[in-house]
Amino acid sequence: MGDKVTLTIIKADVGSIAGHHIVHPDQLAAATKILAEAKQKGLIIDFYVTNVGDDLQLIMTHTKGTDDPSIHGLAWDAFHAAAKVARELKLYAAGQDLLSEAFSGNVRGLGPGVAELEMEERASEPIVTFHADKTEPGAFNLPIFRIFADPFNTAGLVIDPKMHDGFVFEVYDVFEGRSVLMKSPEEMYDVLALIGTTGRYVIRRVYRKSDNLLAAVVSVERLNLIAGKYVGKDDPVAIVRTQHGLPAVGEVLEAFAFPHLVAGWMRGSHYGPLMPVPLRYAKVTRFDGPPRVIALGWNINKGRLIGPVDLFDDVAYDETRRQAQLIAEYMRRHGPFMPHRLGPEEMEYTTLPDVLQKLKDRFVKAEDAYKVIKKHSETL
Ligand code: 13P
Ligand code: 13P
Ligand code: MG
Ligand code: MG
Repeated sequence: MGDKVTLTIIKADVGSIAGHHIVHPDQLAAATKILAEAKQKGLIIDFYVTNVGDDLQLIMTHTKGTDDPSIHGLAWDAFHAAAKVARELKLYAAGQDLLSEAFSGNVRGLGPGVAELEMEERASEPIVTFHADKTEPGAFNLPIFRIFADPFNTAGLVIDPKMHDGFVFEVYDVFEGRSVLMKSPEEMYDVLALIGTTGRYVIRRVYRKSDNLLAAVVSVERLNLIAGKYVGKDDPVAIVRTQHGLPAVGEVLEAFAFPHLVAGWMRGSHYGPLMPVPLRYAKVTRFDGPPRVIALGWNINKGRLIGPVDLFDDVAYDETRRQAQLIAEYMRRHGPFMPHRLGPEEMEYTTLPDVLQKLKDRFVKAEDAYKVIKKHSETL
């Protein structure tokens, strides 16, 4: 409350044109109208509406702190307006992420993903927001770790006295709905022991150790609400503060120069490379992918959003994109086989229980299998 500014990103897939491809411009317009009215009324200071693939992104600033019912309610209204457009145009999967009709003060548990960062604005407040489609929050584990813990990525960890103490990671257990705070570099191997399991342990927040400044937030909200049972992926967003005692923008982006494999892609059930793209390529085609991430650069000025700049709109990322294409081709050649296809416990779609049910009386002891084929050949 008061002078502190909160950057709130709430995103949802409320329908898209031609499959899970891209948000329709009329949906962006509908959401923009709702947020523009709220800005005029003074509820929010500023806003920006965009999309990555089929995920509608509401980027808002205000002074109401995190989890505020009026801000979450505003997002809910904007998503409903965009879902209404989707229904009118008979777009695909209209209202996909609006899991409940009833709003009760907070979008947590209702479907949308949320990343909120309340801050004491620094003299200059440069921020990068990341928005991904066709993947899950654990996709950010590798780059966020490298940004805040790997000196081969972030030179500042070694040479900037303000960062030299390291950072604290809050790691969230998706199944148990619990978090653990761990220090880096001291507990780096323990951090990695957890976050390498991207489907279960997700970096949720990162703090600067010297003063507990909140440096990064990742959306895990949807997973949060359904802790205990697997509910599929949620295309994630992340907020990273930068510069002046934090990783420089170039160090933050450097972690995305390697197109690592993430879970998601077609039917939320395949591993593929995370491809960093400019906004104009923030849409998916090949096999509903490959998974994409955009990076928007901002300066926050008394709550005003200065920007965005489209940070991956740079030839310096062409080689990463080319590598991602090669990896996409390589992974696709595996067709329905793991490790392209996810393991059975992680798939969004599966016929395995039906197939097993159908075959249940036909399973025999392995040593008796020859009898079945013998019987079969006798009947030919
Ligand atoms: P600061 O100016 O934020 O300390 O960072 C230095 C930098 O940007 C080098 O790339
Ligand atoms: P979204 O999660 O982006 O809606 O994608 C779903 C899907 O099945 C893509 O093939
Ligand atoms: Mg979709
Ligand atoms: Mg999506």
